[in-house]
Amino acid sequence: MKRIGILTAGGDTPAMNATIHGAVVRANQLKVEVFGLIKGFNSLFNPRVPHVHLNPLYQEIPEIDPTKGGTIIGSSRDYVDPEKKAELDLVASRLEGLGVEGLICVGGDGTLNGLQPLAERLPTVLAPKTIDNDLGLNYPHEPDEWVRVKDPQANHGSRYEQRASHAMFDLEYMVNYVTPGYATAVFVSAGGVERIRTTAESHRRIAIIEVMGRHSGYIALGSAYGRPDIILVPEHPLDLEHLVERVKQLYDLQKNVVIVCGEGIVDNRGRELGAETKTTDPAGNIALSGAAEALRHKFIQMIGDRYFQLYRRGTAREAIFTRKVGHTQRGGRPILFDRFYAAQLGAKAVELLLEGHNNAVATLQYNSKRGFYVDGYDANRFRDRWGYIHARHMFPAFYDPKLMKPSRIGIDYLLPIFTDAIGEDDMEHMRRTLFSQGNLAQPYHSINTDVNKRIRYVTSVVGETDSEIAPAPMPDLAKHLGTGAAKSEK
Ligand code: F6P
Repeated sequence: MKRIGILTAGGDTPAMNATIHGAVVRANQLKVEVFGLIKGFNSLFNPRVPHVHLNPLYQEIPEIDPTKGGTIIGSSRDYVDPEKKAELDLVASRLEGLGVEGLICVGGDGTLNGLQPLAERLPTVLAPKTIDNDLGLNYPHEPDEWVRVKDPQANHGSRYEQRASHAMFDLEYMVNYVTPGYATAVFVSAGGVERIRTTAESHRRIAIIEVMGRHSGYIALGSAYGRPDIILVPEHPLDLEHLVERVKQLYDLQKNVVIVCGEGIVDNRGRELGAETKTTDPAGNIALSGAAEALRHKFIQMIGDRYFQLYRRGTAREAIFTRKVGHTQRGGRPILFDRFYAAQLGAKAVELLLEGHNNAVATLQYNSKRGFYVDGYDANRFRDRWGYIHARHMFPAFYDPKLMKPSRIGIDYLLPIFTDAIGEDDMEHMRRTLFSQGNLAQPYHSINTDVNKRIRYVTSVVGETDSEIAPAPMPDLAKHLGTGAAKSEK
């Protein structure tokens, strides 16, 4: 293999550049060219295939910086639908036209779902990324527990449910113990929780802090490091009575309460609190908006003004406030743990391709003797019996629903990741850069400006004539083609 492609797909994470860096460093050692495809699969839906040569003369371009968040080659939620054979063929022929012999997708569960049909056309490997930590298996046979049940309300008339496990759980059997991006997201969330505490204390308020993670409670679990009083995770339906009772107990005692809720929390009928206004992103994921706000409304009704007036002036509405950690948990400099292992996973993905693996995933494994190490895993083993790959939920026993906090085993899960997750340079970097005088005087220089100058386009693609290129984008992809790409070609 002399030339490979790499793309970053789905929601960004702080560690994607570190993965690209790891892949390019290893490719340089092995004398393999790496082409970065711009904006994930979007690049391949464009007949001109915008791309950047990331290692001309086997030297990494200077824009690749593993300590910078985001991804210099851009990401999008464009998605390769395994059902769309013609689209897949087109994608493969465009890669062939580019001389790319193998592909690394830096992605999550959505990308992994599209991997197999792509792998039938060219060698493809996934390097994992997601702040949600939902790419992986809590135990190897987890995919076998999924069943499909009829549901006239659901898409295609059915939905998936996960049955309870019959196996003894062991942390060391987890497949892809943790995903790059997760540690930094927890670092930001836990820091936010810690900061909100003192203001809640000063003003005798109840703070409800919403963290990301979709239907997986891993980020909420990790935010325990910020010492909230209560954590709510999507894997355990809300018991409102129990929750309100505990909130009042805490408030009676300390006159403030800090609650963390995962954005995907559900009520006792399994309905998502935050999905009251339901929308979906291009990959079909439900966009969750406002679990914390929904919870606040329930508290206002159930606790009432009179209760708060015992302790402070004002109404329940004033006493209870919400904050979303939001996209700050997805951006910025990755902490040491993330960038170190993201780079290793990028390098492993290159090795897997060159060793002849296909439809494989580079995984980050853990055992108490070796610590963390990278490995390869067959992507097919993530599939359920219908061929679908599910986002991993937080392993339910990591959480104690009575205490509403991590359980003993949940703590055991978190410790290896976070004990030494922050590097000295992470703190030093902040000390040196945040209040630098230049920040005030100079405009922000976006990395995109530099990368744009390096973007190249193919002029003709195998199987596509020029006349095919211009006027006939596939209807559902039309929005991704055209103006942006055409303009920057000039
Ligand atoms: O999957 C990553 C994630 O950050 C989720 O935690 C969150 O629900 C979603 O992406 C937000 O997506 P967007 O940035 O498109 O609003």
